[in-house]
Amino acid sequence: MGTKLFHTLLLLSYALSNVIGEETGFVGTLHPKSLGLHKKQTLSHFKFYWHDIVSSGANSTSATVIPPLPKYNTSTSFGMVNVMDNPLTLGPEMGSKLVGRAEGFYALTSQSQINLLMVMNFALFEGKYNGSTITIVGRNAVSENEKDIPVVGGSGIFKFAKGYAHAKTYFFDPKTGDATTEYNVYVLHNE
Ligand SMILES: *[C@@H]1O[C@H](CO)[C@@H](O)[C@H](O)[C@H]1NC(C)=O
Ligand SMILES: *[C@@H]1O[C@H](CO)[C@@H](O)[C@H](O)[C@H]1NC(C)=O
Ligand SMILES: *[C@@H]1O[C@H](CO)[C@@H](O)[C@H](O)[C@H]1NC(C)=O
Repeated sequence: MGTKLFHTLLLLSYALSNVIGEETGFVGTLHPKSLGLHKKQTLSHFKFYWHDIVSSGANSTSATVIPPLPKYNTSTSFGMVNVMDNPLTLGPEMGSKLVGRAEGFYALTSQSQINLLMVMNFALFEGKYNGSTITIVGRNAVSENEKDIPVVGGSGIFKFAKGYAHAKTYFFDPKTGDATTEYNVYVLHNE
Protein backbone atom coordinates (compact mmCIF):
# COMPACT_ATOMS: atom_id res chain seq x y z
CA MET A 1 0.00 0.00 0.00
CA GLY A 2 1.34 3.47 -0.90
CA THR A 3 2.18 5.86 1.93
CA LYS A 4 -0.23 8.44 0.59
CA LEU A 5 -3.12 5.98 0.46
CA PHE A 6 -2.21 4.79 3.95
CA HIS A 7 -2.38 8.36 5.30
CA THR A 8 -5.68 8.99 3.52
CA LEU A 9 -7.15 5.84 5.07
CA LEU A 10 -5.78 6.84 8.49
CA LEU A 11 -7.39 10.30 8.26
CA LEU A 12 -10.63 8.75 7.09
CA SER A 13 -10.69 6.29 9.99
CA TYR A 14 -10.02 9.14 12.45
CA ALA A 15 -12.92 11.11 10.94
CA LEU A 16 -15.24 8.10 11.14
CA SER A 17 -14.25 7.13 14.68
CA ASN A 18 -14.66 10.72 15.94
CA VAL A 19 -11.19 10.63 17.47
CA ILE A 20 -9.71 14.10 17.99
CA GLY A 21 -5.94 14.13 18.20
CA GLU A 22 -3.78 11.34 19.42
CA GLU A 23 -5.04 7.91 20.44
CA THR A 24 -2.47 6.16 22.63
CA GLY A 25 -4.31 2.87 23.01
CA PHE A 26 -4.96 3.82 26.65
CA VAL A 27 -6.57 7.24 26.16
CA GLY A 28 -7.87 9.35 23.33
CA THR A 29 -10.13 12.38 22.91
CA LEU A 30 -13.46 11.88 21.19
CA HIS A 31 -15.76 14.29 19.45
CA PRO A 32 -18.78 14.80 21.78
CA LYS A 33 -20.98 14.04 18.74
CA SER A 34 -19.84 10.40 18.89
CA LEU A 35 -21.89 9.94 22.07
CA GLY A 36 -24.78 12.15 21.02
CA LEU A 37 -23.69 15.04 23.27
CA HIS A 38 -24.16 17.69 20.56
CA LYS A 39 -27.94 17.33 20.67
CA LYS A 40 -30.21 19.50 22.78
CA GLN A 41 -30.65 17.98 26.21
CA THR A 42 -34.02 16.88 27.53
CA LEU A 43 -35.21 18.09 30.92
CA SER A 44 -37.51 15.42 32.34
CA HIS A 45 -39.63 15.63 35.46
CA PHE A 46 -40.63 12.40 37.15
CA LYS A 47 -43.02 12.19 40.07
CA PHE A 48 -43.50 9.12 42.24
CA TYR A 49 -43.75 7.97 45.84
CA TRP A 50 -41.00 6.12 47.69
CA HIS A 51 -41.98 3.66 50.41
CA ASP A 52 -39.50 2.80 53.17
CA ILE A 53 -41.12 -0.04 55.14
CA VAL A 54 -38.98 -1.06 58.12
CA SER A 55 -41.59 -2.49 60.51
CA SER A 56 -42.97 -5.46 58.58
CA GLY A 57 -40.49 -8.23 59.40
CA ALA A 58 -39.73 -10.35 56.36
CA ASN A 59 -41.98 -8.09 54.26
CA SER A 60 -39.94 -4.97 55.05
CA THR A 61 -38.49 -3.15 52.04
CA SER A 62 -35.64 -1.67 54.06
CA ALA A 63 -33.42 -3.44 56.61
CA THR A 64 -30.91 -2.23 59.18
CA VAL A 65 -27.62 -3.92 58.33
CA ILE A 66 -25.55 -1.91 60.85
CA PRO A 67 -27.31 -0.80 64.06
CA PRO A 68 -26.65 2.62 65.64
CA LEU A 69 -23.33 2.77 67.50
CA PRO A 70 -24.14 3.04 71.24
CA LYS A 71 -20.93 4.87 72.20
CA TYR A 72 -22.06 7.89 70.14
CA ASN A 73 -25.08 10.21 70.60
CA THR A 74 -27.84 7.60 70.56
CA SER A 75 -30.58 10.14 69.73
CA THR A 76 -29.10 10.66 66.27
CA SER A 77 -28.61 6.91 65.50
CA PHE A 78 -25.11 7.82 64.30
CA GLY A 79 -23.48 4.98 62.37
CA MET A 80 -26.66 3.12 61.45
CA VAL A 81 -26.96 1.80 57.89
CA ASN A 82 -30.12 0.56 56.15
CA VAL A 83 -30.15 -1.23 52.83
CA MET A 84 -33.33 -0.71 50.81
CA ASP A 85 -35.19 -2.15 47.88
CA ASN A 86 -38.07 0.32 48.08
CA PRO A 87 -41.05 0.39 45.71
CA LEU A 88 -41.64 3.58 43.69
CA THR A 89 -45.35 4.00 42.97
CA LEU A 90 -47.31 6.44 40.84
CA GLY A 91 -49.66 7.39 43.66
CA PRO A 92 -49.06 7.68 47.41
CA GLU A 93 -50.68 4.34 48.27
CA MET A 94 -48.46 1.27 48.47
CA GLY A 95 -50.91 -0.58 46.16
CA SER A 96 -50.68 2.12 43.47
CA LYS A 97 -48.97 1.32 40.14
CA LEU A 98 -45.34 0.25 40.57
CA VAL A 99 -43.17 2.45 38.28
CA GLY A 100 -39.73 1.56 39.63
CA ARG A 101 -37.64 0.60 42.62
CA ALA A 102 -35.11 2.49 44.73
CA GLU A 103 -32.16 0.21 45.41
CA GLY A 104 -29.42 1.47 47.70
CA PHE A 105 -28.68 2.41 51.28
CA TYR A 106 -28.85 5.26 53.71
CA ALA A 107 -26.45 5.92 56.56
CA LEU A 108 -26.97 8.11 59.63
CA THR A 109 -24.02 10.49 59.36
CA SER A 110 -24.53 13.30 61.89
CA GLN A 111 -23.66 13.23 65.60
CA SER A 112 -25.91 16.21 66.42
CA GLN A 113 -28.92 15.80 64.11
CA ILE A 114 -30.79 13.01 62.33
CA ASN A 115 -29.20 13.35 58.90
CA LEU A 116 -28.89 10.71 56.23
CA LEU A 117 -26.39 10.12 53.47
CA MET A 118 -28.58 8.64 50.74
CA VAL A 119 -27.12 6.52 47.96
CA MET A 120 -29.83 5.17 45.64
CA ASN A 121 -30.43 3.99 42.13
CA PHE A 122 -33.94 4.69 40.91
CA ALA A 123 -34.49 1.76 38.51
CA LEU A 124 -37.47 2.70 36.35
CA PHE A 125 -39.88 0.24 34.69
CA GLU A 126 -42.09 2.39 32.47
CA GLY A 127 -42.00 2.47 28.65
CA LYS A 128 -38.71 3.69 27.13
CA TYR A 129 -37.29 4.27 30.64
CA ASN A 130 -37.57 0.58 31.53
CA GLY A 131 -34.09 -0.64 32.47
CA SER A 132 -32.59 2.84 32.84
CA THR A 133 -31.46 4.13 36.23
CA ILE A 134 -31.07 7.53 37.89
CA THR A 135 -28.38 7.70 40.59
CA ILE A 136 -28.99 9.86 43.66
CA VAL A 137 -26.26 10.64 46.20
CA GLY A 138 -26.59 13.29 48.87
CA ARG A 139 -27.62 14.61 52.26
CA ASN A 140 -31.12 14.24 53.63
CA ALA A 141 -31.82 16.19 56.83
CA VAL A 142 -34.77 14.32 58.33
CA SER A 143 -35.88 17.40 60.34
CA GLU A 144 -36.59 19.27 57.10
CA ASN A 145 -39.87 18.37 55.48
CA GLU A 146 -38.60 19.22 51.98
CA LYS A 147 -35.09 18.89 50.58
CA ASP A 148 -33.12 18.54 47.35
CA ILE A 149 -30.78 15.61 46.80
CA PRO A 150 -28.37 15.64 43.83
CA VAL A 151 -28.78 13.42 40.76
CA VAL A 152 -25.16 12.50 40.05
CA GLY A 153 -25.64 10.43 36.91
CA GLY A 154 -27.38 7.39 35.56
CA SER A 155 -27.44 4.59 33.03
CA GLY A 156 -29.32 3.83 29.81
CA ILE A 157 -31.30 6.92 28.80
CA PHE A 158 -29.71 8.75 31.76
CA LYS A 159 -26.04 8.40 30.83
CA PHE A 160 -24.37 11.80 31.56
CA ALA A 161 -27.49 12.85 33.51
CA LYS A 162 -27.52 15.56 36.13
CA GLY A 163 -30.19 17.25 38.19
CA TYR A 164 -31.80 16.88 41.56
CA ALA A 165 -34.55 15.04 43.38
CA HIS A 166 -36.93 17.08 45.49
CA ALA A 167 -38.04 14.96 48.44
CA LYS A 168 -41.13 15.84 50.47
CA THR A 169 -42.45 13.81 53.39
CA TYR A 170 -45.91 12.45 52.64
CA PHE A 171 -46.21 10.13 55.62
CA PHE A 172 -43.98 9.26 58.55
CA ASP A 173 -44.79 7.07 61.53
CA PRO A 174 -42.28 7.92 64.28
CA LYS A 175 -43.31 4.77 66.20
CA THR A 176 -42.51 2.28 63.42
CA GLY A 177 -40.14 4.41 61.31
CA ASP A 178 -42.16 3.63 58.16
CA ALA A 179 -42.12 6.50 55.67
CA THR A 180 -43.62 7.51 52.35
CA THR A 181 -41.84 10.31 50.52
CA GLU A 182 -43.01 12.20 47.43
CA TYR A 183 -40.15 12.51 44.93
CA ASN A 184 -40.09 15.05 42.11
CA VAL A 185 -36.98 14.30 40.08
CA TYR A 186 -35.67 16.93 37.63
CA VAL A 187 -33.11 15.41 35.33
CA LEU A 188 -31.23 16.71 32.29
CA HIS A 189 -30.22 13.91 29.95
CA ASN A 190 -29.11 13.37 26.37
CA GLU A 191 -31.67 10.91 25.01
C1 LIG B 1 -46.03 -10.53 55.11
O1 LIG B 1 -46.99 -10.53 54.06
C2 LIG B 1 -47.85 -11.65 54.06
C3 LIG B 1 -48.70 -11.57 52.80
O2 LIG B 1 -49.30 -10.32 52.65
C4 LIG B 1 -48.67 -11.65 55.35
O3 LIG B 1 -49.50 -12.77 55.38
C5 LIG B 1 -47.73 -11.67 56.55
O4 LIG B 1 -48.47 -11.55 57.74
C6 LIG B 1 -46.72 -10.53 56.47
N1 LIG B 1 -45.72 -10.67 57.53
C7 LIG B 1 -45.43 -9.67 58.38
C8 LIG B 1 -44.37 -9.98 59.39
O5 LIG B 1 -45.93 -8.56 58.32
C1 LIG C 1 -27.39 14.57 70.40
O1 LIG C 1 -28.42 14.68 69.43
C2 LIG C 1 -29.46 15.58 69.75
C3 LIG C 1 -30.46 15.61 68.59
O2 LIG C 1 -31.03 14.38 68.32
C4 LIG C 1 -28.91 16.96 69.93
O3 LIG C 1 -29.96 17.82 70.38
C5 LIG C 1 -27.79 16.97 70.97
O4 LIG C 1 -27.20 18.24 71.00
C6 LIG C 1 -26.74 15.92 70.57
N1 LIG C 1 -25.68 15.86 71.57
C7 LIG C 1 -24.40 16.11 71.27
C8 LIG C 1 -23.44 15.95 72.41
O5 LIG C 1 -24.03 16.42 70.13
C1 LIG D 1 -39.34 -3.99 31.59
O1 LIG D 1 -38.33 -4.84 31.07
C2 LIG D 1 -38.35 -6.14 31.64
C3 LIG D 1 -37.10 -6.89 31.16
O2 LIG D 1 -36.78 -6.59 29.85
C4 LIG D 1 -39.65 -6.84 31.25
O3 LIG D 1 -39.71 -8.13 31.79
C5 LIG D 1 -40.81 -6.01 31.79
O4 LIG D 1 -42.04 -6.55 31.40
C6 LIG D 1 -40.72 -4.56 31.32
N1 LIG D 1 -41.71 -3.78 32.06
C7 LIG D 1 -42.53 -2.92 31.46
C8 LIG D 1 -43.48 -2.21 32.37
O5 LIG D 1 -42.53 -2.70 30.26
